[in-house]
Amino acid sequence: YEIYLNGMTGAVPRLPTDLTRLEELTEQRLGPGPVGYVAGSAGNGSTTRANRAALERRRIVPRMLRDVHERDLSVEVLGRALPAPLALAPVGVLSIMHPDAESAAARAAAAQGVPFVLSSASSTPMEQVAEAMGDAERWFQLYWPRDPEVARSFLNRAKASGFSVLVVTLDTPLLAWRPRDLDQAYLPFLHGVGTANYFSDPAFQAGLAKPVHEDPNAAVMHFVGMFADPAKSWPDLAFLRENWDGPIVLKGVLHPDDARQAAEAGMDGVVVSNHGGRQVAGSVAAADALPRVAQAVGDRLTVLFDSGIRTGDDIFKALALGARTVLVGRPYVYGLGLDGRPGVEHVIRCLLAELDLTLALSGHATPGTIGPADLVEDPA
Ligand code: FNR
Repeated sequence: YEIYLNGMTGAVPRLPTDLTRLEELTEQRLGPGPVGYVAGSAGNGSTTRANRAALERRRIVPRMLRDVHERDLSVEVLGRALPAPLALAPVGVLSIMHPDAESAAARAAAAQGVPFVLSSASSTPMEQVAEAMGDAERWFQLYWPRDPEVARSFLNRAKASGFSVLVVTLDTPLLAWRPRDLDQAYLPFLHGVGTANYFSDPAFQAGLAKPVHEDPNAAVMHFVGMFADPAKSWPDLAFLRENWDGPIVLKGVLHPDDARQAAEAGMDGVVVSNHGGRQVAGSVAAADALPRVAQAVGDRLTVLFDSGIRTGDDIFKALALGARTVLVGRPYVYGLGLDGRPGVEHVIRCLLAELDLTLALSGHATPGTIGPADLVEDPA
């Protein structure tokens, strides 16, 4: 309503309310380099397209006359009361988009009450982002460092900075073949590759022959070797359980058997995600994997979802397929690139307003009543 009322005085929103237009606008404003990093996908982009197609193929079947005049979007997730089933996904090196980077996005999330998931590969040290957020809900995403001392140090720092939920990303033991990044020689390198958490870490520094400022190239090489570890396997999760008191969520789970193993390993949740189509070209669409995972572990684990969410009705569909809450990636990153913190707030508010209306118009007063029966699959 705010937008319509402002319209009476001739004021239109600074950014479009159709969030699918943000990529093109960001490309016009910031050029192809930064957008290549954000839009970039594995291989020829087939997984990213499949993510969209799997959501669009499913259609909502609205119900009528169900008294939706009062609505409440809030959900309980991992023991936390959230105002809506939405969080900002971890995205590395946000300085490529805006000089205020992670702090601006985190402030926007805090102002709207939605959790901000800070990437291990952020361009701002985690303590600084935490300070920008006051006591707002913040989660820490771990790229599991090869050196256990660095891993332990990250977990301790995150705990001390008030990050409550640990999101462990499993789908990136190596960076995938991403042509748009390869063709521009991986732009994040020009922005420090998201080394802020590493270079500021005492355990990381202890592994260097010379301080970072004396030999930055050696420090970057140490980071590249440290950043992820393709040798990890399920028994290693015990280390995380021992070193983190709060909820642990595994991100990048697509197979129901992996979800079952997560439950057996004492994890609290999974994010059904294919990293926005950036890791395995030809991978199953995230929305196609979601109902199978939810069916396998929905009663034992909190099931979260990302990869392809662009609208309020996408969020509705993900909830109907079994997600408790969704994470959104690229749209808020473009909002950041176009207008800093207000741009991120715009994206969050558009998604929540559209979700609220979709709920109402489909006959739901709360997310809790949405289920598989609210969707059909379009055969086309
Ligand atoms: C990501 N993603 C990601 N995930 C993660 O766990 N740690 C990270 O540092 C990053 N970095 C990152 C950078 C960029 C530019 C993008 C686009 C994505 C994946 C992210 O958390 C999420 O899974 C996807 O972005 C979700 O898909 P959509 O919403 O972008 O379609």
